[in-house]
Amino acid sequence: MVLAYLTCSPNDRDQARQLAAGLSADGVRVELLDDVDDEGAMASTERRCLVALISPAAERSERVRKHLTRALNNAWPIVPVQVSATDTSSWLRLMLPAESEIDMLQGMTRESLTLTAEAIRSASSAGRVIAMLNIKGGVGKTVLAANVFAAAHLLSRCRVAFVDLDPQSNLSQYFLSPAERNRLRQKNQTIFSVFSSRGESACARADFSQLLTPLNRKFGLGSFDLLAGDDRLFEFTLDLRAPPEKDAAFSRFHALIADLKARYDAVVLDTNPCATFLTRCAVTAAEHIVAPVRPEQYSLSGLNLLEFVTRQIRERPVRPAEFTILLNGVGDRVRLRNGGDPDALIRQEINQAPFFGASLLETAIPYSGLLRAAPTQRFAANPINATAIARFSQRALKESLASAAQAILRRAGAL
Ligand SMILES: Nc1ncnc2c1ncn2[C@@H]1O[C@H](COP(=O)(O)OP(=O)(O)O)[C@@H](O)[C@H]1O
Ligand SMILES: [Mg+2]
Repeated sequence: MVLAYLTCSPNDRDQARQLAAGLSADGVRVELLDDVDDEGAMASTERRCLVALISPAAERSERVRKHLTRALNNAWPIVPVQVSATDTSSWLRLMLPAESEIDMLQGMTRESLTLTAEAIRSASSAGRVIAMLNIKGGVGKTVLAANVFAAAHLLSRCRVAFVDLDPQSNLSQYFLSPAERNRLRQKNQTIFSVFSSRGESACARADFSQLLTPLNRKFGLGSFDLLAGDDRLFEFTLDLRAPPEKDAAFSRFHALIADLKARYDAVVLDTNPCATFLTRCAVTAAEHIVAPVRPEQYSLSGLNLLEFVTRQIRERPVRPAEFTILLNGVGDRVRLRNGGDPDALIRQEINQAPFFGASLLETAIPYSGLLRAAPTQRFAANPINATAIARFSQRALKESLASAAQAILRRAGAL
């Protein structure tokens, strides 16, 4: 049975109960947040969905606002149901995508109930959003995004959408030639067109999914696509954009994510090692966070900062199950020659850490010349060939990528 929570103003409670009763006939169990411990319910990491009854009374309700903000900050899909007429410019309507709104202004009909049940079901069975994130740079976020998810795609036919949220766009450089990237920028076919809500670079919300570029032109396994990065994203990390523009960008970014979740098994966000507006976008959209870690000194302090930043953004305590720590670059002979065993040391250090011990993956990614080397121009014709999994026969590397991919998808709830 699919489970969703419902938020409404006290005035709309009768309608809410009627809706819950109607939906249970469709195999969807809806619980009113008023009837349960709402803090506890909203801290749940199981697959959840929030139904919001929209009315003028809901607009005035602090509780409804709190529930919606929580849901938006925690990657919960929201199904807005309009029960009495409100102004289209109200904060509630602006906050939620109008396209997905269900009309119950004429009362609860069989059809509107079926539509609501369908919206809840599709929101609950959608793909998972996974962010590659660590407040420390150079740990392998980008290289592992490309290679781990290429493994997931080639071995399990996982439909992958990459979103390059790093203004330096290393992931796009990994997969695409400079000419290709330039062409996409000229055509306004980058992430910048999602963040810009005005001007000629802005893309209409309905066309977001057309911004993606297919990367796998050869293997015929279904979608393996990229929404290319753009250096102009810097405008959203500095204070160059006014708050209303950032609000619009935030809401447009979440609309993009909802779109992609419906069409892909995994939506992978590559981020830059910072805590900016872009980090907030990534963390609020991500259901799971993958943090690569190198066997080095200070690695753990980067992780502790990650836990702090995520908790601040989500406005609630976070749990180790929401993260995967992926040890990257083990077995580096040069480093091992210096004596000691840095791999074992960092493993022990993370295992003993109060928070992240339970997030550390058993599988580690070996240090490898294939991951160190930047893909060359000759792979541009078929970008997936740039990944280690599709190249040469390095068995240990391939096996660790495949096993990490499986474990991450399982932990993220995508399998
Ligand atoms: N397992 C590995 N073996 C060898 N080199 C690696 C490995 N993982 C990452 N690298 C290299 O380390 C550098 C930083 O990786 P990158 O993915 O760009 O980090 P981040 O995105 O976290 O800043 C890159 O030059 C990359 O090729
Ligand atoms: Mg990177």
